[in-house]
Amino acid sequence: MKAYIELIEEELESYNFGSHPHELYEPINYILSLDGKRLRPVLTLMTYRIFNDNYKKAIYPALGVEVFHNFTLLHDDIMDNAPIRRGSPTVHEKWNENIAILSGDVMLIRAYELFIKSGFGDLERLLIKFNKCASEVCEGQQYDMNFESTLLVTETDYLEMIKLKTAVLIGFAAELGAILGGADEKTSDQFYEFGVNIGIAFQLKDDLLDVFADTNKFGKQTGGDIISNKKTYLLIKALENAKNKTKEELDQWLKKKDFDPMEKVDAMTGIYKELGIKKLTESKMNSYFTKGLAIFDSIDIEESKKLPLKELSLKLMDREK
Ligand code: IPE
Ligand code: IPE
Ligand code: MG
Ligand code: MG
Ligand code: MG
Repeated sequence: MKAYIELIEEELESYNFGSHPHELYEPINYILSLDGKRLRPVLTLMTYRIFNDNYKKAIYPALGVEVFHNFTLLHDDIMDNAPIRRGSPTVHEKWNENIAILSGDVMLIRAYELFIKSGFGDLERLLIKFNKCASEVCEGQQYDMNFESTLLVTETDYLEMIKLKTAVLIGFAAELGAILGGADEKTSDQFYEFGVNIGIAFQLKDDLLDVFADTNKFGKQTGGDIISNKKTYLLIKALENAKNKTKEELDQWLKKKDFDPMEKVDAMTGIYKELGIKKLTESKMNSYFTKGLAIFDSIDIEESKKLPLKELSLKLMDREK
């Protein structure tokens, strides 16, 4: 695990994303220098290694996935009005929104550059898959924004939204490693499905952490989702389960336009605790995690080769950031 992260960090640091005008490129080096988990490129490299020991050969496309992910974060933080990311000010806070938009745009272009540098023979196939995934991320992000002001969001709507905004990229990261490694289509599809299911579990965990994490460890503002009425799994379950006075209180907080953010976060967190929402969310998360692992187990590859990916998946579910 350490070796993969070190390689990714080194390559991100030495890669020339561009220099002038510095307002465009500084934020790229800034966001990439902060302490991210590097989950997606690690998934690509680990999957690739199952098929080819020389995992360094997959570094450029692996970086492509990470750079794309970081581009989505720059724009997501504007959309979510987020002040901190990875324990530091977000790009739009440190500079401004226009800078975060444009630096994000050029990061998307650099992601394509990195895919091209993969040297992979069937670039068209790779880019068709990536483009589908990248469009879906945008679709998911739009649903996420729409749902802020939609009163009735069902569990099914929610699960589809997080599949799009988060899980398909995690699926693609694993699938990419398999494709580059020369896996047959059935196998690369299985890696995709594994990643998507783990990815849904990953976003459920992110929703949980947004309410219950220690901000210092999490590196993001706790309660951000509550402040902006995000239809997280937690809120959807609370709306389903709240009755009488609790239901009234919940509805009032969702309607309020002027409020003290801390007060709202405390009140909503109290409601979640009263209704046992943490347990419900963990149980949903575990069911997707288990499903992902079952798909993974069914992949017809020697068990010893699969161990690192299994360990990585297990770690993700009890992370604190
Ligand atoms: C944040 O992704 C966006 C989500 C899909 C929840 P990560 O939790 O992987 O963030 P970093 O890259 O480790 O900072
Ligand atoms: C983000 O979901 C998904 C994408 C960035 C595409 P969130 O908005 O929950 O991610 P965080 O919590 O800001 O990292
Ligand atoms: Mg966000
Ligand atoms: Mg968001
Ligand atoms: Mg979140």
